[in-house]
Amino acid sequence: MKDLLLAVCLLAGLALKNSVQTSEWRVVCLKLCKCEVRPWFSPSSMYNEALTVDCNDQGLLSLPERLPSDTQVLLSQANNIAKISSPLESLVHLMEVDLSQNNISSLSDIYLGHLPQLLSLHLEENWLSSLHDNCLAHFPNLQELYINHNLLSLISAEAFKGLNKLLRLHLNSNQLRAIRTEWFHDLSQLEILMIGENPIVRIRDMNFKPLINLRSLVLTRMNLTEIPDSALVGLDKLESISFYDNMFPKVPQAALRQVLNLKFLDLNKNPIERIQRGDFVDMVHLKELGINSMPELVSIDSFAIHNLPELTKIEATNNPRLSYIHQNAFSKLPRLESLMLNSNALRALHRITVESLPNLQEVSLHSNPIYCDCVIRWINMNKNKVRFMEPDALFCSGPLEFQGHLVRHVHFREMADICLPLISPESLPDQVNVGSGHSISMHCRAFADPEPEIYWVTPSGEKILPQMVSIKYYLHPEGTFDIYDISEKEAGQYTCVAHNLIGSDMRSVSVIVNGYYPVPTNESLHVQVKGMEPHSVSISWVPPKGSLVSNIKWSTMSNRLSLQFTAHVLSDVKTFNLTHLHPLTQYEVCVEITDLQSRHLKNCLNFSTTDDSVSKGKTDNGIDLLYSITALLLIVSAVVCSFIYILRRSDPLYRKLINQQSEILPSHIKPMWGSRSKASDSANETDLRKGSI
Ligand SMILES: *[C@@H]1O[C@H](CO)[C@@H](O)[C@H](O)[C@H]1NC(C)=O
Ligand SMILES: *[C@@H]1O[C@H](CO)[C@@H](O)[C@H](O)[C@H]1NC(C)=O
Ligand SMILES: *[C@@H]1O[C@H](CO)[C@@H](O)[C@H](O)[C@H]1NC(C)=O
Ligand SMILES: *[C@@H]1O[C@H](CO)[C@@H](O)[C@H](O)[C@H]1NC(C)=O
Ligand SMILES: *[C@@H]1O[C@H](CO)[C@@H](O)[C@H](O)[C@H]1NC(C)=O
Repeated sequence: MKDLLLAVCLLAGLALKNSVQTSEWRVVCLKLCKCEVRPWFSPSSMYNEALTVDCNDQGLLSLPERLPSDTQVLLSQANNIAKISSPLESLVHLMEVDLSQNNISSLSDIYLGHLPQLLSLHLEENWLSSLHDNCLAHFPNLQELYINHNLLSLISAEAFKGLNKLLRLHLNSNQLRAIRTEWFHDLSQLEILMIGENPIVRIRDMNFKPLINLRSLVLTRMNLTEIPDSALVGLDKLESISFYDNMFPKVPQAALRQVLNLKFLDLNKNPIERIQRGDFVDMVHLKELGINSMPELVSIDSFAIHNLPELTKIEATNNPRLSYIHQNAFSKLPRLESLMLNSNALRALHRITVESLPNLQEVSLHSNPIYCDCVIRWINMNKNKVRFMEPDALFCSGPLEFQGHLVRHVHFREMADICLPLISPESLPDQVNVGSGHSISMHCRAFADPEPEIYWVTPSGEKILPQMVSIKYYLHPEGTFDIYDISEKEAGQYTCVAHNLIGSDMRSVSVIVNGYYPVPTNESLHVQVKGMEPHSVSISWVPPKGSLVSNIKWSTMSNRLSLQFTAHVLSDVKTFNLTHLHPLTQYEVCVEITDLQSRHLKNCLNFSTTDDSVSKGKTDNGIDLLYSITALLLIVSAVVCSFIYILRRSDPLYRKLINQQSEILPSHIKPMWGSRSKASDSANETDLRKGSI
């Protein structure tokens, strides 16, 4: 929006330069200056022609003497003026003085005299450090005052006294540490206030209250983390507010609700992590919303932008982690025409998201890593009345067979019918550093069709389901996982699992508390024999924090037999029953733990099965053995398949495991998976996954 305005202004300026001829003004002009009639816009944007003395950029140390008495605009920008000793009072038509980019360090050094006709004063880019009471009172009709880019650290309560006509005040880029409400007492006509880029410690309640006609407030680059709920009270005419480049962790919703006439909201470049339900509640006149360049934004959740009858444009671009937009994120937006979502980390956009916007004309989705499977294929089904901007920059990032293709070149029939969950790598960091006593939120979002369900697994293997009650943890239905009042006990690896009826995807985050992370060691993996019988042995172990899967191998090297078996179990399994063993035989069993960072822990022990005759031996051993083998094969293959299935998207580990398996599994246990790229091929394997992790 800002860029557009700027461009329009520049174009207008160029057009004027070319079309409106400046004309000679019949005066004897000064040596270094130009005297011309030039177009001039008043602060209220009225077009005029003004007798202009242009002494810009001449290295002047003081203003020229004997300026033409009918001068209306005096330009002395980019000179080296530090003092003005002869007042300009004789110039009774003077409307504008431009002293920007000079060497002025105090207003008391530049005595301009009483100028009741002055409308516009430019003092930006000087060295002013303070403004004292009544320092501008001799310009009672001033409409524009530019003191931005100075060193102002002190502005007295009555510095702007008497400026009852002021429309525009630029105080940005100074050293102000507080905003004083007293400054504004005479500024009830003010329409534009720019006060960003000051090290303001905090905004206070009612801070701007006297500015009853303010239309635009610019609070950029102030490191603001919050704004009190009543900070904007009184700004009943406010239409536009910019919080560009601050430190807001969430939309300052309560404060914004006070500004009933707000039309343009710029939240760009704030570390907001998610846009959620209620963020824009009651902003009924909002027309344009900017949520661009947010380094932390991961998700726009359900009903995040909801019930805004006048909203016409949403711009959410250049958000490097924005990987998820809930299908109901935008609802009851009857006027929305333009949805700018380019240059994010989106794998998809739901059809419903677009179809729920009745007046939508254009969508910009290019420069996103679009995954060309079923969630996005509606785009190519050719029923859309919306226009996709820059379709030649809309590529598939996957699956492999479509990588690098233009989305519009992939026929929708080629895209899968149902989609496995896909957790965006951008949504979760690999690790989070946190100090004890703090709380953290981790946002796990996945696109899939059918919609996936999400749960998290803690380092101790506890499975946390949405809205489950726990003192330390809370999982929001959308997938955001909160850990409260963290201590070193909570350090470790947390894993998000997204699953739908055809499969799952998972990603892990290492949570490091006060620099502490429980690095698993082989010594910490204790394996022990719990129950020993002639044909079976039960072993148990304690998986260290942060482990995900366990690999169990058992073998015997006795002369008679040379067999090796392998099973995979998931991290919450801590015991395993080895069956169909031979009596009085020595075995070695090894438990190997793998985490998602591909670290391996391994511990082995030797045991010997007991003598058959010692046991009661009443069962029919033949049938029992057959039963055991069948059961084991079923368990092993089911567990192996489900495990591999879950790892579908975690390619390196997946491949490693497949390779291992083909070497280790006895030949009669055939791997049941094959390479596949389309989810639909595997729908019949569904039930094998049930109950995993
Ligand atoms: C600006 O004014 C200061 C005194 O206020 C002087 O010391 C300095 O040399 C001036 N700068 C230039 C570039 O003339
Ligand atoms: C904001 O914080 C940054 C980093 O701490 C600092 O460099 C910058 O000067 C601050 N800006 C303001 C206006 O206080
Ligand atoms: C292990 O399996 C065998 C055979 O199915 C059974 O007899 C034994 O009780 C099981 N042991 C444990 C600890 O479950
Ligand atoms: C544990 O032991 C295995 C095999 O003995 C070895 O490959 C692995 O690097 C060890 N891991 C650690 C963390 O010491
Ligand atoms: C188990 O026994 C084998 C051979 O008898 C030996 O090589 C191996 O080191 C033993 N393992 C353990 C953990 O004691």
